[in-house]
Amino acid sequence: MQITPTSALKIAVIHGPNLNLLGLREPDIYGADTFDDVNRKIEERARQLGLEIRIRQTNHEGEIIDIIHDAVNWADGIVINPGAYTHYAYAIADAIRGVRLPVVEVHLTNVHAREEWRHKSVISPATVGQIVGFGAESYALGLQALRAVLLQGRS
Ligand code: DQA
Repeated sequence: MQITPTSALKIAVIHGPNLNLLGLREPDIYGADTFDDVNRKIEERARQLGLEIRIRQTNHEGEIIDIIHDAVNWADGIVINPGAYTHYAYAIADAIRGVRLPVVEVHLTNVHAREEWRHKSVISPATVGQIVGFGAESYALGLQALRAVLLQGRS
């Protein structure tokens, strides 16, 4: 797709299952920031980077797939935290491959330092890259990385 240099880059930010519980959910692991706090940080960074974003959260795998499909109609790329789907949801990986949008996978926690079943991501092979372990900053870094990838494509 041809992107005109003057248009703002548009990015879909997708939160998967249980991320709506942030603040309440295992704060020793996920921190005290609420879901709204995290989204405020994402929005602030998007503003600083001059990005137009739309944030969605769902607990349902099929809905994540629908959001990915719909992103084709408006977005230049996707930042996604697929939650536990990361570790086994091949249909989400196939959706990412299907839409051919650049995708950055992010995780609040360093999944590689946690239980062994979290070490494997079936999503990563379909993405540009993965950012883990920086809390809400993982999303901000994800936006920054995706912006760099998209701008490279413009030049
Ligand atoms: C997570 C890591 C996953 O293993 C876990 O199931 C989550 C959150 C993270 O952001 O660190 O729900 O994606």
